[in-house]
Parts: sequence; C-alpha cells; structure tokens
Amino acid sequence: MKLDGATALVTGTNRGLGHHFATELLRRGAKVYATARRPELVEIPGAEVLRLDITDQASVEAAASVATDVDVLINNAAFTAGGNLVTGDLDAIRQVMDSNYYGTLAMIRAFAPILARNGGGAILNVLSAVAWTTVDGNTSYAAAKSAAWGLTNGVRVELAAQGTHVAALVPFLIATETLKEYLGNAGVDISEEVMDDPADLARLALDGIEAGEVEILDRLSAEAKATLTGPPQALDLSAVGS
Ligand SMILES: NC(=O)c1ccc[n+]([C@@H]2O[C@H](COP(=O)([O-])OP(=O)(O)OC[C@H]3O[C@@H](n4cnc5c(N)ncnc54)[C@H](OP(=O)(O)O)[C@@H]3O)[C@@H](O)[C@H]2O)c1
Repeated sequence: MKLDGATALVTGTNRGLGHHFATELLRRGAKVYATARRPELVEIPGAEVLRLDITDQASVEAAASVATDVDVLINNAAFTAGGNLVTGDLDAIRQVMDSNYYGTLAMIRAFAPILARNGGGAILNVLSAVAWTTVDGNTSYAAAKSAAWGLTNGVRVELAAQGTHVAALVPFLIATETLKEYLGNAGVDISEEVMDDPADLARLALDGIEAGEVEILDRLSAEAKATLTGPPQALDLSAVGS
C-alpha cells in the first residue's frame, strides 16, 4: 500500500525505533498519530501526539475513539527487560508478556474494525530474532516475542478477509539506547556494525509495507530463522552471525 496520504498510528514514539517510524512516515506523506505513555516526551514536529499505554484497556479504547481515520497500525512499543524465566522477577516477566503479547493484541482488537472501515490497510508488528532463538539473561523476552510471532501469524489469517495486510518486522539488534544499556549492564561487547541503525530499519520496514511484504528481515534475523530447522540446542541468539 502507498504510505503517501495514509494515516498511521505508531506506539512508543518517545524514543528508539518508534521515533524513527513516526518521522519516516511523516517524510513519506502520511498523517501520523505518535503515541506514548508520556506524550510530553514526544518530539516529532507535524505529528498528532496521543497518550497511550498499550497495556491499559481504557487507554487503548480512548486512542481508538480519537484515531478513527487510521489505516496503518505500527505496533512497536514493548517492555523488553524481563530477565530470565526461571530466576527472574515475575512482575517483570508479566510486564514483558503484557506489552509484547496482550498489549499488541489489545491494539489489534481495538483497531481492526477501524482498519476495516478505512479499506483494510496494514498492521506491522515489531518482533525480534529472539522469537526464533532465545537469549540467556532475557529468556522471558524471547518467549514473549515467540508469542507475538504466533499472534502475528494468527491475526494475518483472521484479518485477510477484511483486506488488512499483516506484516512482521523481525530485527536482530537495533542500535537504540535500550539495547546499548542492556549490553553494557550484561558486560557484552558487540560491535555496532552488526546492529541495524534505527532510521535505516524504519525505512526498510516501511518499504516492505509499501511492497506488500509479509515478513521483513534483516540479514542476521534471516540467519536466526534458519536455526529453526536445526536441533533445539542450537536456538541461541549468541550463536547467530558468529
Ligand atoms: N533494540 C533492539 O536491539 C531490538 C531488537 C529486536 C527487536 N526490538 C523491538 O523493537 C521495538 C523497539 O525497540 P527499541 O529498542 O526502540 O525500544 P525502546 O527504545 O526501549 O523503546 C520502547 C518504547 O516502547 C514504549 N513502551 C513500553 N511499554 C509500553 C506500554 N505498555 N505502552 C506504551 N508504550 C510502551 C516505551 O515507552 P516508555 O519510554 O514510556 O517506557 C518506549 O517508547 C520493540 O518492540 C523491541 O522489542 C528491539
């Protein structure tokens, strides 16, 4: 679909990849609802800023009652620091699942009728290569992204009849402050050369939407997907690209 003249809603635009999605959509001629839990932190000239917490049903419904002209929904927002499944803090594990799975689902359920009324449109869910692997230290995040991958596939089948294109962006590592902080805390030294620049990634994803792609991968996430055909012991993100 063409993004020039489209109306997009992006979640989590106060920082990271979400900020770049909103900026690039505006550059391509779309109207943009730039949403965030703390809208006062959103600095995107030309966007309509909305308060939105995707894990709060009232907040999701309030956004859907205002943004009735949306035909592109970008589910980018996520809490990513869940920690390990067995030893991690259960509240953090729930928060990771709430945002990556239930929050994304709440957004899709609220906006599916709006997309239908506006001609079908498109949904882009931001997943991660950890959906197909795992990563020691943050296995709960990997599990939540696996659930979000299943959600994406299911919703694609369900919404085909109303003409909504459902796509997944599956990045490997994105050079955002969140990732750098995570790697720093974990004492992991990874060259920025293997990371996606968030502005480039937003362009790649939106090119994919315009081209009607279903799964938008970078080089290393394609390698991560290939591990699914091997033994389960090999499903380790740190083994990809090394
Ligand atoms: N960085 C990577 O290496 C990487 C790799 C693969 C996939 N991804 C995925 O790419 C997406 C963006 O990542 P990023 O690195 O840009 O993340 P980020 O910089 O940590 O930004 C996350 C955004 O999500 C928002 N958010 C979190 N929980 C929310 C909620 N309940 N409701 C609304 N907004 C919420 C945050 O808002 P607050 O400021 O209010 O917390 C923030 O705006 C995520 O889906 C992430 O899982 C990231």
